[in-house]
Amino acid sequence: MCGIVGYAGKNPALLVLLQGLERLEYRGYDSAGVALIENGTLFIEKKVGKIRELIRSVWGKELKATVGIGHTRWATHGEVCELNAHPHTDNRGEFAVVHNGIIENYRELKEELQRLDVEYRSQTDTEAIAHLIALNYQGDLLEAVLKGIKKLKGAYAFAVISVKEPNKIVAVRYGSPLVVGIGRGENFIASDIPALLPFTRKVIPLDDGEVVDLRPDGVHIYDSEGNLLVKEAIDVPWDAISAEKGGFKHFMLKEIFEQPRTLGDTIRGYISRDYHIPFSLRDFRRVIVVACGTSYHAGLVGKYWIEKYARVPVDVVYASELRYSDAPIGEKDIIIAISQSGETADTRFSALSAKDKGATLLSIVNVIGSALDRESDYSLYTHAGPEIGVAATKTFTAQLAVLYSLAISYSEDKERLTENLLKIPGLVEEVLSIADRIREIALKYAGYKNMLYLGRHLSYPVALEGALKLKEISYIHAEGYPAGEMKHGPIALIDEKTPTFVICPKDKVYEKMLSNIEEVLARKGKVIGVGFQGDSELRELCNDLIDVPSVHEDLTPFLTSVPVQLFAYYIADYLGLDVDQPRNLAKTVTVE
Ligand code: AGP
Repeated sequence: MCGIVGYAGKNPALLVLLQGLERLEYRGYDSAGVALIENGTLFIEKKVGKIRELIRSVWGKELKATVGIGHTRWATHGEVCELNAHPHTDNRGEFAVVHNGIIENYRELKEELQRLDVEYRSQTDTEAIAHLIALNYQGDLLEAVLKGIKKLKGAYAFAVISVKEPNKIVAVRYGSPLVVGIGRGENFIASDIPALLPFTRKVIPLDDGEVVDLRPDGVHIYDSEGNLLVKEAIDVPWDAISAEKGGFKHFMLKEIFEQPRTLGDTIRGYISRDYHIPFSLRDFRRVIVVACGTSYHAGLVGKYWIEKYARVPVDVVYASELRYSDAPIGEKDIIIAISQSGETADTRFSALSAKDKGATLLSIVNVIGSALDRESDYSLYTHAGPEIGVAATKTFTAQLAVLYSLAISYSEDKERLTENLLKIPGLVEEVLSIADRIREIALKYAGYKNMLYLGRHLSYPVALEGALKLKEISYIHAEGYPAGEMKHGPIALIDEKTPTFVICPKDKVYEKMLSNIEEVLARKGKVIGVGFQGDSELRELCNDLIDVPSVHEDLTPFLTSVPVQLFAYYIADYLGLDVDQPRNLAKTVTVE
């Protein structure tokens, strides 16, 4: 996710900005930059790569500026290069903007601006904001911003400075977080609290639609109509380190709890327009999904949806297997490569080997500008922001959101299905609200050495994902299986020492799942269930039950995957293991 910092005060701004940006590094980024008002003109410096590159390039410059803004960029629009790094300015270099989020209507804004002879230099959506404010400016920066935001669509936060009014920053929050820091004779703005902590613990989190006029001697906050608001500052209880995790003990837990927002961001990125993929899946005889680990599990879920709605056969293959197989692949095939990092060697090389045989390559990635993104014929992006925990969580559900949006784009009933999808972030929030109950249940099973995860149909990949989560962070042996397979071998594993986790929403295979649960119970196996709220029959059967809101049967994986994430997390945390950096694992496997 991009990071924003801003300072208006009595000290040189540059050092404050660089320190603030360093404290936002955990968010992940690919470039960084600053803009300051130095002797009445805009000083801009931006660099691709880490903040230390930016520091190297500005070190030694005797900048006296006491007002400035800074940015770390997590590319959403436009490749990773200096031109696309923030801050962005208008053509006359009088306004500088840093932005976090997505301006969904930037293409039409860009065309409108170009018709007004504006020279649009970058590939970003952000640059449109700088031009818009410059065009609206008639002597009052706050007014120009209030007018400009009326033309913006999407989820965003931005900050702007101008040589026209050199002692202030005007910033807006609309869908992406922004926090004001209150100092003595100095004030701050940032995307997240960690950037403020070296300077102040007194903060005012902005709400959506609020605009702040921030100066060294004071802060005024307005609503989007320009009405002055009265907002209380709060004292942040966090120490600097925990704040980087937003107050969570581990990045993994933070990322699990980010899912309502990251799902909302990803879904918004797709429902607002029809697919602009320059081909239809129906142009091909077969879809081959290739991925590893959690991304592979997302692909297995996507298979059900794509076959149901696009009516095209889908093979889901482990990337490491596809590359060396003699599968007959050619122009009639489309490869969907799923990879949150976009750098996984197995996935990249197998996808490229298929592309070399004539297949079309579509990728679903979380990192724009990643190798796989650049090597694909076309990419679809998850908007989950950087995932720091090695165990994938928010990127998994974001991948599901992209796959489902892709699948239902072929349905006659797309409107209704989209309405259902839009409810998912709120329903995931509801599942997260019983996290303490899930922890209570999880700790009862922390002592076991083996676990079985069972599911059918859409819940089978969730069973695989639950087993992967448990084994990779708690080192407990766990296997995921299609429940229908129990009688063909795995049931030999069942006894009182091997509990079974069953994913059992009320879908078309519910009755079959109940029979499988009975088979486990008959052999003294303990059963932890995930099912719909109010399912008394399932509650009766299971030793422990985690209930989630009932939802359209297509969408159960969004809700049932959250309990298996939390179940694994709480066990690993209870066992005192390194949840974010499990042994032997890397976040991205860039070697075969
Ligand atoms: C999942 O929790 C693991 N981190 C791992 O299986 C991961 O999903 C796999 O390495 C694929 O990574 P990618 O999505 O970046 O390609």
